[in-house]
Amino acid sequence: MRKLRFGVIGAGGIARRKTIPGMLQAANCELAAVMDVANIEAIAREFGVAKAYDNETQLLADPSVEAVYIASPVCLHASQILAAAERGKHILCEKPLTLTLAEAERAVEACRRHGVFLQEGYMMKFHGAHRAIRRLIDDGRLGRLVYMRAQLSCWYPRIDGAWRQNPAKGGGGSLIDMATHLYDLLEYFAGPIRRVAALTGNLVQDYASEDASTTLLEFASGAQATVDSFFCIPDEASRTRLEIYGSRGGILTEGTIGQSVGGSVEAIFGLGDAAYDAAQNKDVARVFQPIEFDKINPYQAECEYFADCVLSNRAPEINNAKNALHILRVTEAAYRSARERRFVEV
Ligand SMILES: NC(=O)c1ccc[n+]([C@@H]2O[C@H](COP(=O)([O-])OP(=O)(O)OC[C@H]3O[C@@H](n4cnc5c(N)ncnc54)[C@H](O)[C@@H]3O)[C@@H](O)[C@H]2O)c1
Repeated sequence: MRKLRFGVIGAGGIARRKTIPGMLQAANCELAAVMDVANIEAIAREFGVAKAYDNETQLLADPSVEAVYIASPVCLHASQILAAAERGKHILCEKPLTLTLAEAERAVEACRRHGVFLQEGYMMKFHGAHRAIRRLIDDGRLGRLVYMRAQLSCWYPRIDGAWRQNPAKGGGGSLIDMATHLYDLLEYFAGPIRRVAALTGNLVQDYASEDASTTLLEFASGAQATVDSFFCIPDEASRTRLEIYGSRGGILTEGTIGQSVGGSVEAIFGLGDAAYDAAQNKDVARVFQPIEFDKINPYQAECEYFADCVLSNRAPEINNAKNALHILRVTEAAYRSARERRFVEV
């Protein structure tokens, strides 16, 4: 099978922990070169890659690199996308695409001008549980989609020099870094978001990026949702819950949101009119059934999908440039809403 030859820009964080191992599992991907400004020899040794660079210009000049995976701090994405596009490399870039919508528009335009494909790293849509849930929703098992809640929090203390803790380098804190994953995932279930109202704040941690965010979402369908993402809730205290309710039932998950392959899903269907209880007896058994799903590594799956698109000369539909711009539009609307203390249309 023909394999897409990747060069990785920013190989030390999520790339090293998750995406490169996923890429190496993908039948249609090959790791041709890695680049980082730190520890590059150790990274190259770990993955058995012969080509290791400590600057992006060298990696982009390497003719064996057909596509790049960019996983550097967010403030570097815009210039690295432009440089990669100019060298004719297809681009899989981590989320958020850039710091701002304006930067993203320029990056997307450069990819269009140079004829390279662009895909973004909102990989949770590839998770097997989320694919299974989408099928259940599409099959009408929940009836009309009414309300969703998605949670992603962690404990992230002050670390000197950490780019996420400086809005100039990360674009913000828990909202842009984690809540945007959930905006994207909930749109996969419910279609486009119409308007948002967000609360952000610094409740515990002592740095400039927000450590607290709660977002109220309204979808074009009328469905409603809340997203809660904090950098100041201990990981062990947060179950990363996803709850999806419709007029005929509900789906609950634990541990499917995040970087895992697993987690659990349970659901109850077939309710609605038949379940009307005039006596308002709420003391009834609520019998949820476990839902099985394929254990798909979302990092492997996003690489496979991107490689398949490039190798068959077809623009990605999942996590494409249009989606990247849209999620940044939702993100900017959320921050604006938090500043102006009102709903903002997307
Ligand atoms: N999809 C996911 O599950 C997921 C998870 C974590 C992070 N991310 C995203 O991945 C990106 C990186 O986040 P991270 O947590 O890995 O950060 P990190 O700080 O852990 O790693 C970033 C890496 O980039 C390197 N770097 C710094 N300057 C560079 C330069 N000029 N050129 C190339 N590399 C450089 C650093 O040395 C480091 O190895 C961000 O966009 C983040 O939002 C995605």
